[in-house]
Amino acid sequence: MSAPRPFRVLGIETSCDETAAAVVQDGRTVLSDVVASQAGLHARYGGVVPEIASRMHVEAIVPVVAQALADAGTTLADLDGIAVTRGPGLIGALLVGVSAAKGLASVSGLPMVGVHHIAGHIAANFLSSPDLEPPFVCLVASGGHSHIALVRGPGRFEVLARTRDDAAGEAFDKIARAMGLGYPGGPAIDREAEGGRPDAYAYPRMDLGGGSLDFSFSGVKTHALNLLNRLAMQAGPGADVWASVSRRDFAASFQAAVADALVTHVFEALERAGLRTLALAGGVSANRELRRRCMERADREGVALHVPPLRLCTDNAAMIAAAGTPLLLAGMRDGPDLNADASWELDEAGLVNLP
Ligand code: KG4
Ligand code: ZN
Repeated sequence: MSAPRPFRVLGIETSCDETAAAVVQDGRTVLSDVVASQAGLHARYGGVVPEIASRMHVEAIVPVVAQALADAGTTLADLDGIAVTRGPGLIGALLVGVSAAKGLASVSGLPMVGVHHIAGHIAANFLSSPDLEPPFVCLVASGGHSHIALVRGPGRFEVLARTRDDAAGEAFDKIARAMGLGYPGGPAIDREAEGGRPDAYAYPRMDLGGGSLDFSFSGVKTHALNLLNRLAMQAGPGADVWASVSRRDFAASFQAAVADALVTHVFEALERAGLRTLALAGGVSANRELRRRCMERADREGVALHVPPLRLCTDNAAMIAAAGTPLLLAGMRDGPDLNADASWELDEAGLVNLP
């Protein structure tokens, strides 16, 4: 009996400041993965400038898709479908990817499906852990989102917790900026915290009451900013606060507060769901302190932990192709009327995506 023909999907991702395209086989194997980052361009403004992001996507999208096809040794004719990030994200940025996908689908006749960006982050785990099968709990922490999702099947999610205000990555970015560490803030704080004392400054425990596992990172951020103001006042007017205060300790304590909230809530979610498989997703899961704490608890509690490599944690298109594959295989299709949705909710996508 001959083996089934491989199912190859082109993924396209343009929701924020990365123009990305990738080819993935059977939702599990990355054949190519091209990411053109604009981060350097936005760094001088201290954050992503939506107008610049859209314009850069327009310039990059065609060469990036061409490179992804070339790296995979494929042409459109060898593919079985196209998956594109439909939302959430910056509307002007999303539209570039969605328009490109519609154009490619129309010239090639390939089926196309719109994918939720967070579903993509979750699906990164299917690429790095070939044996991972639902159900599992996934912590999704990125620049725009902080969710705990129960993944029931490919494309089927139940949201167990979400942030009520800022996302974890947003808090990292804002505090890094206040500390003079630049953008993107997460990696900068991660580096700065190395060797710092995580217990140098105490943070209140995050508890939204009523047994809720939701997050509030605005509270952590405000606590850090108030602390920084107090330290600056103690240093005296015009003085460099970091001359008298350890920036390492400050970074390590802030990072520990964010990691503590994420880890405590996600392990509680696992317990409530009666599951012993945990996956991490999103840019913040690159954080070394978060990974360390997750590994420690997983080891202690007999939980199987899946953590994608750094490249698959941050925005990329391989994860979008992986998330789109089961939808395309289930016969889901979007037509030329597919529109970007800047504020698409994950649980809405979970229902929409139910094969
Ligand atoms: O998932 P992602 O690449 O883009 C979004 O969909 O938002 O996540 C970007 C976020 C940024 O806020 C960045 O500061 C954060 O992930 N990040 C980190 C680390 N690396 C990236 N946060 C903490 N520690 C890191 N090592
Ligand atoms: Zn992302």
